[in-house]
Amino acid sequence: MNARELKNIFVDFFKSKDHIEIPSASIVPENDPTTLFISAGIQPLVPFFLGKKHPCGTRLVNVQKCIRTGDIDEVGDAVHHTFFEMLGNWSLGDYFKEEMIPWSFEFLTKNLNIFLNKLAVSVFAGDKDAPKDEETAKLWQKQGIPLSKIAFLPKENNWWGPPGITGPCGADTEMFYWTGPDPIPEVFDSKDNRWVEIWNDVLIQYFKNDQGKYEKLIQNNIDTGMGVERTIAVLSGLSNNYMTDIWQPIIKKIEEISIKKYSENLVPMRIIADHLRAAVFIIADGVEPSNKEAGYVLRRLIRRSIRQGKLIGIENNFLKIIAGAVLDNQNNYAGVYPELDINRNKILEVLDNEEIKFRRTLNKGLNEITKLIDRQKSVSGKEAFGLYQSFGFPVEMIEEELKKNNLSLDLAEFNRLKDEHQKQSQTLSAGKFKSGLADHSEIITKYHTATHLLHATLRKVLGDHVEQSGSNITVERLRFDFSHPERVSEDQLREIEKIINQQIKLKLPVTFQSMKFVDAQKSGALAFFGAKYPEIVTVYTVGNPKNFFSREVCTGPHVDNTGKLGIFEIQKEESAGSGKRRIYAILK
Ligand code: ALA
Repeated sequence: MNARELKNIFVDFFKSKDHIEIPSASIVPENDPTTLFISAGIQPLVPFFLGKKHPCGTRLVNVQKCIRTGDIDEVGDAVHHTFFEMLGNWSLGDYFKEEMIPWSFEFLTKNLNIFLNKLAVSVFAGDKDAPKDEETAKLWQKQGIPLSKIAFLPKENNWWGPPGITGPCGADTEMFYWTGPDPIPEVFDSKDNRWVEIWNDVLIQYFKNDQGKYEKLIQNNIDTGMGVERTIAVLSGLSNNYMTDIWQPIIKKIEEISIKKYSENLVPMRIIADHLRAAVFIIADGVEPSNKEAGYVLRRLIRRSIRQGKLIGIENNFLKIIAGAVLDNQNNYAGVYPELDINRNKILEVLDNEEIKFRRTLNKGLNEITKLIDRQKSVSGKEAFGLYQSFGFPVEMIEEELKKNNLSLDLAEFNRLKDEHQKQSQTLSAGKFKSGLADHSEIITKYHTATHLLHATLRKVLGDHVEQSGSNITVERLRFDFSHPERVSEDQLREIEKIINQQIKLKLPVTFQSMKFVDAQKSGALAFFGAKYPEIVTVYTVGNPKNFFSREVCTGPHVDNTGKLGIFEIQKEESAGSGKRRIYAILK
């Protein structure tokens, strides 16, 4: 079985249990300023766990693109990845553990053909917040899992979420696969890492509030997650994830360019493959390298790849070539994710430009270091941190340069300064989190509706060639990217503002309706060009449905009346790449 087959088998299994397949959401949360990346399939679905109706019903399944930035430093080992695909199925107040446990067992033993004795499970041991999950253990036993293969574990192991400070969460039950030699142990020891977790069923019953208390939700939900990379590797009996068809074409390309063998260069080649695959997906969803937030993560991934490339002797620009191997992976990505195919040129260009810039920076940094060495025969921890800060110059390279001259670096001082700096930025981002969606959902909702008004108005004033190419909302402003070949003139900007403020004064109703995607398009609803939509979508209409001002396919949320928006003001208009413009606007 290869990864693509695993994905298909999973989705088909749940379709046979009346689930609707929904497309992967963008890896960058579109209207949730509280997190940089989607890290689990449940994340874009959170409102539906709290009672909101999903247009596709109460049983969903998908393959979700995920990024976990916490794992970046672990990459290089056999199992950690920055980007991965997560298989997931969801019950939104529909079935619960009585159905999910037998289904999990059926899928593992029948569809994946796993022998019963190679399986073990863990369930929640219980604490002050929620009881011991005897029910789930009994359900597993009923399927044939012996008690000796069931471990009761505490919250740190068997509880999932919320990913932020507040949100839906619950006890989970995890399924483990024996990857060691025979004989298979009779008793499951969760600390023995030859038992590898392959699937997690979360029983979402609680909402963790901002006081840290667990409140019962109005409905019982299921959220499951199975990592494609890991599962396909262990099922194929491979000792590390990089031997699968997901990675091999990328690794082969790196071997070819470096004229080195993977088997002798495991860590650098894994890091390059991992980081560039993640970078490709991040750029495809509209992020560009920068010094802030998602753009900064992207920049780090790119720089680390170049640095690892140097370690295996790659001195010329190579990112484009490796990224090409990711994009061309027929089995997994090419033709599967339309955003990769549509943005192919842009992805390659962004990577190439960033590489050219960083190589220049590296050269400048090297000159700086040579000067310091010539002048003072040393580089202090503070100077090293300065180079790291201003040029993004990797500290390992500073050490290497010093070593060539028989000198060493005061690493303790460097690390102290770095930690200090990190603490400061963590405090800043914690602040950002607190002031995020949870407390400000009202203003975010207003900006969301304002974005629809802007999109419709741009088309009226500039023409039908205008298409949304990106949108980002914070509590302070909206940002909207669209296709348009030239600057939007001052007069046009004022005209756009005027029209939008008129619609606000008219207090137009905002209504929504679920319908088939094809009918939505027929009814004049705007949709993202090239994006994959589920069969049934929600359509938001601003104004009289017979003679509307704006209609778009969208998951919301929106205000119910444009009168709530206040005054719309455009703050800036600028280029967003070739043939693209960007508008920043605020509501006052
Ligand atoms: N949301 C669960 C996870 O990430 C399924 O493991």
